[in-house]
Amino acid sequence: MRSFKVLTFGCQMNERDSEMISGVLAAEGFYKTEDEEEADLILLNTCSIREKAEQKFYSEVGRLKKLKEKKPSLIIAVSGCIAQQEGEKVLRRAPHVDIVFGNQNTRELPGMLKARNGGKTAMTVFPADYQHASLPAHRENSLNAFVNIMYGCDNFCSYCVVPFVRGREKSRRPGDIVDEVSRLARGGLREVTLLGQNVNSYGRGLDEGGGTGFPKLLQMLDAVEGVERIRFVTSHPKDLSDELISAMAALPKVCESIHLPMQSASDRILASMNRRYTFSEYMEKLTKLKEAMPDITLSTDIIVGFPGETEADYQETITALADIRYDGIFSFKYSKRPNTKALSLPGHIPEEVKAARLDHVISMQNAITLEKNIARVGKVEEVLVEGPDKSGSGDRMSGKSRGGKIVNFCGSLSLVGSMVKVRITEGKKHSLSGSLYNGDLDCKKL
Ligand code: SAH
Ligand code: SF4
Ligand code: F3S
Repeated sequence: MRSFKVLTFGCQMNERDSEMISGVLAAEGFYKTEDEEEADLILLNTCSIREKAEQKFYSEVGRLKKLKEKKPSLIIAVSGCIAQQEGEKVLRRAPHVDIVFGNQNTRELPGMLKARNGGKTAMTVFPADYQHASLPAHRENSLNAFVNIMYGCDNFCSYCVVPFVRGREKSRRPGDIVDEVSRLARGGLREVTLLGQNVNSYGRGLDEGGGTGFPKLLQMLDAVEGVERIRFVTSHPKDLSDELISAMAALPKVCESIHLPMQSASDRILASMNRRYTFSEYMEKLTKLKEAMPDITLSTDIIVGFPGETEADYQETITALADIRYDGIFSFKYSKRPNTKALSLPGHIPEEVKAARLDHVISMQNAITLEKNIARVGKVEEVLVEGPDKSGSGDRMSGKSRGGKIVNFCGSLSLVGSMVKVRITEGKKHSLSGSLYNGDLDCKKL
């Protein structure tokens, strides 16, 4: 038997793809190891979203060179978004890499391993029938799972490499998704996170099960026995419908939480980013979400230093962040990506300006996130218990609230997998702390 190790970079899509890669390799008789020295195959599942991610990949792959010198039989494979973007070029730039395969070529991996005959091989095509692909199921975690509802992206935001590395948007058939979630639920799944670059446009172009938009899909999944929570990423503001807001509010298993990337609050920059909404349209949707679900948790993505972003544009974003007060944000410096329209825009911003803008956004948001967490003190949250907390003491458990916040509390391992009520006693930067709550007894220490 041969062993493998997968190193995963990037987003949830890649985490899910790594599970499938592991499943395919296990079906080929490989077993998983965490020990690089022991592994016969090391696979890097890569991300290309920003320059930094790409640099990280080349430094990781550089590190593996020494390992390969020591053990020439080691096979190094590269998958994911850099593999898709660079194809054979990876083999030239890092000659100790053996196999390169694209985002929709996982099922070809066994064939590539066999046919390669000691040589180098690369494949980065988008098969027309990808949505029918059924790969061996391998899941890292039985309590919560990522389930793809669609692949690719057609939005072509002017800064973004994803449409190039993930291909055109394609929705999976609703029946296939419901079957997969039902199967997982029978295996103990409690929480599902639906994945797509733009889940709000789910169903577009589907002829079978036609007319199943995202709200309808949520309704179908809400009926699956055993599943207790449904989450999804990512929602594009332009496609967030009133119908979806109503479905979120009405369906008991759909969590009151949304990640709604704003990117910028300046209409000029939003237009130049090809986001296809204005700031006031974005705000209108946020207002409707809050009206329908007053306790909803909100998060967003922000890019600072997009080409042409003036101090005034940037200040609009700052003001918006201060007004909206998200529970959390992901913020980035604009980064040049191959093939994207923004590359050729005038007014690229100097690195130090981008860095200063980002620093300010981060420190301002850190304070807001902390305040928002402190504001939860006294509330009772429903927590799905995932396992021991990071302290390692063994008598503290950790889980997530419906809003997606990490909640730590005193409790025993026997609670893992169950849903408990926790009264929040402390709000921290990255988590909440509390005590088990059973209605009459205020706090119960186990
Ligand atoms: N499909 C999702 C997420 C895509 S990538 C969406 O539309 O929201 C996640 C985030 O990375 C984006 O929301 C954006 O904020 C950021 N991002 C993408 N390309 C970038 C680039 N070239 N430079 C900086 N940030 C970028
Ligand atoms: Fe990228 Fe825009 Fe597609 Fe998101 S919607 S993946 S930001 S192109
Ligand atoms: Fe995800 Fe990075 Fe690819 S964010 S889609 S792994 S470019």
